[in-house]
Amino acid sequence: MGVIARRLALGCSVFVVIRQSLKRRAWSTRDVETVRMGRQHAQVVPLNGGSLAAVVTSHASTALLSDELVERCVDSARSRGFVELRTGALGLLEQGVYLRAGFETRSELRVLAADVGQLRLPANGRWEYRECGSDMHPALAEADLSAFGEDAGFGLLMLREVLSATPQTAVIGAFDRNGGLSGYAVFGKSRGIGYVQRLAVIPAARRRGAGSGLLGAGVAWMRGNATKRVLVNTELTNTPALNLYRDTGFEDQPTVLSTLTSRLG
Ligand SMILES: CC(C)(COP(=O)(O)OP(=O)(O)OC[C@H]1O[C@@H](n2cnc3c(N)ncnc32)[C@H](O)[C@@H]1OP(=O)(O)O)[C@@H](O)C(=O)NCCC(=O)NCCS
Repeated sequence: MGVIARRLALGCSVFVVIRQSLKRRAWSTRDVETVRMGRQHAQVVPLNGGSLAAVVTSHASTALLSDELVERCVDSARSRGFVELRTGALGLLEQGVYLRAGFETRSELRVLAADVGQLRLPANGRWEYRECGSDMHPALAEADLSAFGEDAGFGLLMLREVLSATPQTAVIGAFDRNGGLSGYAVFGKSRGIGYVQRLAVIPAARRRGAGSGLLGAGVAWMRGNATKRVLVNTELTNTPALNLYRDTGFEDQPTVLSTLTSRLG
């Protein structure tokens, strides 16, 4: 996912650990750490509670990160006990600094785009779609972990990082008839463009329209917010998601993004 108001926006998350030179404290693997160097800063965010991976995120105000900042993020993650540091979705230009620091490609992502007005999203009465407040965040993180698995699922801190990636955000849950949460999605808007930031349906509820319904609810939110164009990215190997987006009218874009990873042995 890409780079907008912040690098998380296209579904990407660039996490960085910021070691503060003046105020030192003992960072744990449960903290988000901000690493600052001059005007640049990045955050290192734990992926989820059960994993030893963290993600580096940077902000729009930060141009391409310096080699030194990325090295400090790596050092910080390693010293906190993380065994892996990942980036969010990066374009070619942004990858250089990480590749120089020894990161390798973890996954490749297809960018898809659509005109909001042209998407085909039939209503699905099986689920109820509602905006979710912060009281729902723990349940959303649980659903995320269930949908993406331990290796890629977001915990609360990552979820909050996604929510803060764009100036405008909608978080929508899909609820079954008993009020159980079956899935959720995060949509963002920045500079007139809409983004599908996260889309997750728990395995037990799949293939019954919850995913396309969530997409439809997000598109309705975008239409109400005068958003004309919407972007999403997903792994080249994620056939369910690619089918879902293509079937509803998204078109493949030539850009391929990558997430990178560094093992912190
Ligand atoms: C992708 C995901 C959100 C789809 O949710 P869902 O509720 O199962 O999707 P729907 O039932 O609305 O399916 C809509 C269409 O998507 C496609 N699709 C969904 N699951 C599929 C699968 N396992 N294989 C192939 N196509 C699939 C189909 O075109 C389907 O239409 P159809 O059932 O009429 O053939 C869900 O599989 C998921 O959470 N996956 C893990 C997380 C993830 O990859 N999120 C997207 C990241 S961008």
